[in-house]
Amino acid sequence: MLQSLQERFGIPETVRFESGKGGLTRVSVTTPLATAEMYLHGAHVTHFQPAGQEPMLWVSSRSLYQPDKAIRGGVPICFPWFGPRAGEPSSPMHGFARVTEWNVESVTQSGGGEVELVFGLSNNEQTKKLWPHDFTVKYRVEVGVNLQLTLEVRNDGPEAFDFEEALHSYFAVGDVRKVAVTGLEGTTYIDKTDGLKQKPQGSEPVTITAEMDRVYLNTQSPCLLDDPATKRRIRIAKEGSHSTVVWNPWVAKAKAMTDFGDDEWAGMICIETCNVGEQRITLQPGDTHRMRAIIGNN
Ligand code: BG6
Repeated sequence: MLQSLQERFGIPETVRFESGKGGLTRVSVTTPLATAEMYLHGAHVTHFQPAGQEPMLWVSSRSLYQPDKAIRGGVPICFPWFGPRAGEPSSPMHGFARVTEWNVESVTQSGGGEVELVFGLSNNEQTKKLWPHDFTVKYRVEVGVNLQLTLEVRNDGPEAFDFEEALHSYFAVGDVRKVAVTGLEGTTYIDKTDGLKQKPQGSEPVTITAEMDRVYLNTQSPCLLDDPATKRRIRIAKEGSHSTVVWNPWVAKAKAMTDFGDDEWAGMICIETCNVGEQRITLQPGDTHRMRAIIGNN
């Protein structure tokens, strides 16, 4: 399989299909602009590093790499639901997309050196058991100065369906206790650490001083992640997304997760580009919805 992927989609010196951790198939991208890695398992981007910088994405040293588990870090894709599925505790947390192997549809390189990879996922017997709808998802990963991630969902069935989605990005930071996230001022969030109460953010940037698990509502502006410990600012812009989740597990939750190092919580923060909860998407037959995250410095 690796050989045939390499023959069909590999680009000498630039795009290589290889056996990654746990024997899962990984694509490695090397261009003068940036390096990146992604797994077909979950169409999961696990690495993005613009030339001359440190890696932007965080991955746990304790992550599992198994077909039935999501990789802990990078950019898991949550689809077609987010979090635990309402009324169905046996359904996989955050949907099935992050624990399903995706197809490679195309790999191309532009004259400017950017590499675009398109992954695909559509309904099959397994997905139908969990979610009874006909759908096609295309995921376009553009590796350049920025990392651009575009998730396109099409309804191929005869009836409308609802879905939730998240590009659950984990960012690497020097010290999460010192970071400030701007772009969410003046919005309202649901506090998942406090009985789902709705609270105003006020005019302050978001800072992390305890476990944080918040769904910010009606958010379309870019977020800026200022990390004084590494003197870096990461910008997360978006299109077609109306909610933003900010998550850090802090001490106790990190300890409780088997695939998360006890002390690793200080080196990461999730800022997730989403449409979740009340902001889930209703898609009519034949329609397509597109959500995009643009991750970089500017
Ligand atoms: C966040 C959720 O997006 O993902 C949290 O808001 C959740 O509630 C976290 O704990 C991690 O989820 P998981 O399934 O990857 O452990």
